[in-house]
Amino acid sequence: MRLDKLLANARVGSRKEVGVLIKEGRVMVDGEVVNKPGKKVEEGADLLVDGKALEVKQHVYYLLHKPQGVISATKDRNKTVLDLIRPEDLHKGLFPVGRLDKDTTGFLLLTNDGGLAHRLLSPKRGIEKTYLARLDEDLDESDIRAFQEGFLLLPEGMVTRPARLEILEKTLGRVTITEGKYHQVKRMFAKRGKEVLQLKRISMGPLKLGDLEEGTYRSLSDEEVDLLKAL
Ligand code: URA
Repeated sequence: MRLDKLLANARVGSRKEVGVLIKEGRVMVDGEVVNKPGKKVEEGADLLVDGKALEVKQHVYYLLHKPQGVISATKDRNKTVLDLIRPEDLHKGLFPVGRLDKDTTGFLLLTNDGGLAHRLLSPKRGIEKTYLARLDEDLDESDIRAFQEGFLLLPEGMVTRPARLEILEKTLGRVTITEGKYHQVKRMFAKRGKEVLQLKRISMGPLKLGDLEEGTYRSLSDEEVDLLKAL
Protein backbone atom coordinates (compact mmCIF):
# COMPACT_ATOMS: atom_id res chain seq x y z
CA MET A 1 0.00 0.00 0.00
CA ARG A 2 1.18 3.60 -0.58
CA LEU A 3 2.92 5.03 2.45
CA ASP A 4 0.70 8.13 2.59
CA LYS A 5 -2.46 5.99 2.42
CA LEU A 6 -1.18 3.67 5.12
CA LEU A 7 -0.40 6.59 7.46
CA ALA A 8 -3.74 8.21 6.73
CA ASN A 9 -5.51 4.89 7.42
CA ALA A 10 -3.63 4.71 10.72
CA ARG A 11 -5.10 8.16 11.46
CA VAL A 12 -1.74 9.92 11.65
CA GLY A 13 -3.35 12.75 9.68
CA SER A 14 -5.18 13.49 6.47
CA ARG A 15 -3.64 12.29 3.22
CA LYS A 16 -2.38 15.85 2.63
CA GLU A 17 -0.94 16.22 6.15
CA VAL A 18 0.89 12.90 6.03
CA GLY A 19 2.23 13.82 2.59
CA VAL A 20 3.88 16.85 4.18
CA LEU A 21 5.27 14.76 7.08
CA ILE A 22 6.77 12.29 4.65
CA LYS A 23 8.34 14.98 2.46
CA GLU A 24 9.84 16.57 5.56
CA GLY A 25 11.70 13.31 6.18
CA ARG A 26 9.93 12.55 9.45
CA VAL A 27 8.87 9.02 8.52
CA MET A 28 11.10 5.93 8.64
CA VAL A 29 10.19 2.59 7.08
CA ASP A 30 12.18 -0.43 8.23
CA GLY A 31 14.98 1.79 9.52
CA GLU A 32 15.23 4.15 6.53
CA VAL A 33 13.87 7.62 5.97
CA VAL A 34 11.38 7.57 3.11
CA ASN A 35 10.35 10.90 1.62
CA LYS A 36 8.13 9.78 -1.23
CA PRO A 37 4.43 9.70 -0.25
CA GLY A 38 3.71 7.19 -3.05
CA LYS A 39 6.34 4.69 -1.88
CA LYS A 40 4.82 1.18 -1.67
CA VAL A 41 5.06 -0.27 1.83
CA GLU A 42 4.31 -3.85 2.91
CA GLU A 43 1.74 -4.52 5.60
CA GLY A 44 3.72 -5.28 8.74
CA ALA A 45 6.63 -2.92 7.90
CA ASP A 46 8.27 -1.14 10.87
CA LEU A 47 7.12 2.46 10.82
CA LEU A 48 8.44 5.39 12.86
CA VAL A 49 6.89 8.85 12.77
CA ASP A 50 9.05 11.49 14.46
CA GLY A 51 10.96 8.58 16.00
CA LYS A 52 7.84 7.00 17.51
CA ALA A 53 6.72 3.50 16.54
CA LEU A 54 3.38 3.39 14.80
CA GLU A 55 0.85 0.64 15.29
CA VAL A 56 -0.61 0.01 11.87
CA LYS A 57 -4.13 -1.30 11.84
CA GLN A 58 -4.11 -4.98 10.90
CA HIS A 59 -6.73 -6.36 8.62
CA VAL A 60 -8.78 -9.23 9.95
CA TYR A 61 -10.89 -11.70 7.96
CA TYR A 62 -13.50 -13.93 9.60
CA LEU A 63 -15.78 -16.53 8.10
CA LEU A 64 -19.03 -16.66 10.08
CA HIS A 65 -21.74 -19.29 9.84
CA LYS A 66 -24.67 -16.94 10.14
CA PRO A 67 -27.65 -18.35 12.00
CA GLN A 68 -31.28 -17.44 11.33
CA GLY A 69 -32.72 -14.34 12.94
CA VAL A 70 -29.51 -12.30 12.91
CA ILE A 71 -29.13 -9.17 10.81
CA SER A 72 -26.18 -8.73 8.39
CA ALA A 73 -25.38 -5.21 9.53
CA THR A 74 -23.16 -3.45 12.02
CA LYS A 75 -26.03 -1.71 13.82
CA ASP A 76 -29.67 -2.59 14.23
CA ARG A 77 -32.24 -2.77 16.99
CA ASN A 78 -32.19 -6.55 16.48
CA LYS A 79 -29.20 -8.82 17.04
CA THR A 80 -26.53 -8.31 14.37
CA VAL A 81 -23.72 -10.51 13.12
CA LEU A 82 -21.25 -8.34 15.08
CA ASP A 83 -22.96 -9.50 18.29
CA LEU A 84 -21.60 -12.98 17.50
CA ILE A 85 -17.98 -11.78 17.52
CA ARG A 86 -15.98 -12.03 20.76
CA PRO A 87 -14.97 -8.62 22.16
CA GLU A 88 -11.24 -9.30 21.63
CA ASP A 89 -11.90 -9.97 17.91
CA LEU A 90 -14.10 -6.94 17.38
CA HIS A 91 -11.63 -4.83 15.43
CA LYS A 92 -12.60 -1.32 14.56
CA GLY A 93 -14.29 -1.04 11.19
CA LEU A 94 -15.34 -4.70 11.07
CA PHE A 95 -18.35 -5.21 8.81
CA PRO A 96 -20.09 -7.96 6.82
CA VAL A 97 -19.16 -8.31 3.15
CA GLY A 98 -22.60 -8.13 1.56
CA ARG A 99 -25.86 -9.18 3.11
CA LEU A 100 -27.80 -12.30 3.80
CA ASP A 101 -31.49 -12.00 4.64
CA LYS A 102 -32.45 -12.31 8.28
CA ASP A 103 -33.73 -15.86 7.73
CA THR A 104 -30.83 -16.96 5.49
CA THR A 105 -28.04 -18.95 7.11
CA GLY A 106 -24.50 -19.77 6.09
CA PHE A 107 -21.34 -18.26 4.69
CA LEU A 108 -20.71 -14.65 5.63
CA LEU A 109 -17.37 -12.95 5.45
CA LEU A 110 -16.55 -10.19 7.96
CA THR A 111 -13.55 -7.92 7.56
CA ASN A 112 -12.19 -4.45 8.19
CA ASP A 113 -10.47 -4.51 4.79
CA GLY A 114 -12.73 -2.13 2.87
CA GLY A 115 -10.72 -2.45 -0.34
CA LEU A 116 -11.05 -6.21 -0.53
CA ALA A 117 -14.73 -6.13 0.44
CA HIS A 118 -15.41 -3.62 -2.31
CA ARG A 119 -13.67 -5.78 -4.90
CA LEU A 120 -15.50 -8.93 -3.78
CA LEU A 121 -18.86 -7.19 -4.07
CA SER A 122 -18.18 -5.52 -7.40
CA PRO A 123 -20.62 -6.91 -9.99
CA LYS A 124 -17.83 -6.60 -12.56
CA ARG A 125 -15.88 -9.41 -10.87
CA GLY A 126 -18.82 -11.80 -10.95
CA ILE A 127 -17.72 -13.77 -7.91
CA GLU A 128 -19.73 -17.00 -7.60
CA LYS A 129 -21.99 -17.45 -4.59
CA THR A 130 -23.59 -20.83 -4.04
CA TYR A 131 -26.74 -21.53 -2.01
CA LEU A 132 -28.78 -24.51 -0.97
CA ALA A 133 -32.46 -23.77 -1.32
CA ARG A 134 -35.31 -25.86 0.07
CA LEU A 135 -38.50 -25.26 -1.94
CA ASP A 136 -42.18 -25.80 -1.29
CA GLU A 137 -42.56 -27.65 -4.62
CA ASP A 138 -40.63 -30.08 -6.77
CA LEU A 139 -37.94 -28.82 -9.11
CA ASP A 140 -37.59 -29.96 -12.71
CA GLU A 141 -35.52 -29.49 -15.85
CA SER A 142 -37.50 -26.44 -16.94
CA ASP A 143 -36.32 -24.65 -13.76
CA ILE A 144 -32.70 -25.39 -14.67
CA ARG A 145 -33.22 -23.86 -18.12
CA ALA A 146 -35.01 -20.82 -16.72
CA PHE A 147 -32.18 -20.12 -14.26
CA GLN A 148 -29.71 -20.42 -17.12
CA GLU A 149 -31.70 -18.03 -19.31
CA GLY A 150 -32.25 -15.40 -16.61
CA PHE A 151 -35.28 -13.61 -15.16
CA LEU A 152 -36.43 -10.05 -15.57
CA LEU A 153 -36.43 -8.57 -12.06
CA LEU A 154 -38.71 -5.64 -11.33
CA PRO A 155 -38.51 -2.88 -10.27
CA GLU A 156 -34.82 -2.93 -11.25
CA GLY A 157 -35.77 -3.84 -14.82
CA MET A 158 -32.68 -5.99 -15.23
CA VAL A 159 -32.28 -9.55 -16.37
CA THR A 160 -30.34 -11.83 -14.03
CA ARG A 161 -27.10 -13.29 -15.33
CA PRO A 162 -27.09 -16.98 -16.22
CA ALA A 163 -27.31 -18.95 -12.99
CA ARG A 164 -26.63 -22.61 -12.38
CA LEU A 165 -29.34 -24.69 -10.73
CA GLU A 166 -28.65 -28.29 -9.78
CA ILE A 167 -31.42 -30.51 -8.44
CA LEU A 168 -30.13 -32.41 -5.41
CA GLU A 169 -33.49 -33.70 -4.18
CA LYS A 170 -37.02 -33.12 -5.46
CA THR A 171 -37.38 -29.96 -3.39
CA LEU A 172 -33.68 -29.14 -2.79
CA GLY A 173 -31.65 -27.10 -5.25
CA ARG A 174 -28.08 -25.87 -5.35
CA VAL A 175 -27.96 -22.45 -6.99
CA THR A 176 -24.90 -20.52 -8.09
CA ILE A 177 -25.22 -16.84 -8.97
CA THR A 178 -22.61 -14.23 -9.81
CA GLU A 179 -24.42 -11.12 -8.61
CA GLY A 180 -26.23 -10.09 -5.47
CA LYS A 181 -29.51 -8.31 -6.03
CA TYR A 182 -31.90 -7.85 -3.11
CA HIS A 183 -33.54 -11.23 -2.23
CA GLN A 184 -32.21 -12.49 -5.53
CA VAL A 185 -32.46 -16.24 -5.04
CA LYS A 186 -35.93 -16.04 -3.48
CA ARG A 187 -37.13 -13.79 -6.27
CA MET A 188 -35.73 -16.10 -8.96
CA PHE A 189 -37.62 -19.05 -7.50
CA ALA A 190 -40.73 -16.92 -7.06
CA LYS A 191 -40.61 -16.35 -10.83
CA ARG A 192 -40.96 -20.12 -11.15
CA GLY A 193 -43.94 -20.07 -8.79
CA LYS A 194 -41.93 -21.64 -5.97
CA GLU A 195 -41.33 -20.46 -2.46
CA VAL A 196 -37.94 -20.76 -0.77
CA LEU A 197 -38.54 -22.30 2.65
CA GLN A 198 -34.89 -22.36 3.70
CA LEU A 199 -31.83 -20.75 2.22
CA LYS A 200 -28.21 -21.36 3.14
CA ARG A 201 -25.11 -19.94 1.47
CA ILE A 202 -22.41 -22.59 1.29
CA SER A 203 -19.62 -20.88 -0.63
CA MET A 204 -18.28 -17.66 -2.03
CA GLY A 205 -15.60 -17.69 -4.74
CA PRO A 206 -13.01 -20.31 -3.80
CA LEU A 207 -14.02 -20.51 -0.12
CA LYS A 208 -16.47 -22.99 1.38
CA LEU A 209 -18.45 -22.90 4.60
CA GLY A 210 -17.42 -26.49 5.35
CA ASP A 211 -18.42 -27.86 8.74
CA LEU A 212 -18.18 -24.60 10.66
CA GLU A 213 -20.89 -24.74 13.31
CA GLU A 214 -23.85 -22.37 13.00
CA GLY A 215 -23.33 -19.19 15.03
CA THR A 216 -19.53 -19.63 15.17
CA TYR A 217 -16.71 -18.06 13.15
CA ARG A 218 -13.06 -18.58 12.39
CA SER A 219 -10.22 -16.48 10.99
CA LEU A 220 -9.33 -17.13 7.38
CA SER A 221 -5.86 -18.60 6.86
CA ASP A 222 -3.25 -16.52 5.00
CA GLU A 223 -3.72 -18.83 2.01
CA GLU A 224 -7.47 -18.21 2.00
CA VAL A 225 -6.96 -14.44 2.17
CA ASP A 226 -4.49 -14.69 -0.72
CA LEU A 227 -7.07 -16.63 -2.74
CA LEU A 228 -9.61 -13.84 -2.20
CA LYS A 229 -7.10 -11.14 -3.06
CA ALA A 230 -6.19 -12.96 -6.26
CA LEU A 231 -9.79 -13.03 -7.53
N1 URA B 1 -30.77 -14.41 -2.12
C1 URA B 1 -31.80 -14.25 -1.27
O1 URA B 1 -32.95 -14.27 -1.67
N2 URA B 1 -31.53 -14.06 0.03
C2 URA B 1 -30.27 -14.05 0.55
O2 URA B 1 -30.10 -13.89 1.75
C3 URA B 1 -29.22 -14.23 -0.36
C4 URA B 1 -29.48 -14.41 -1.69
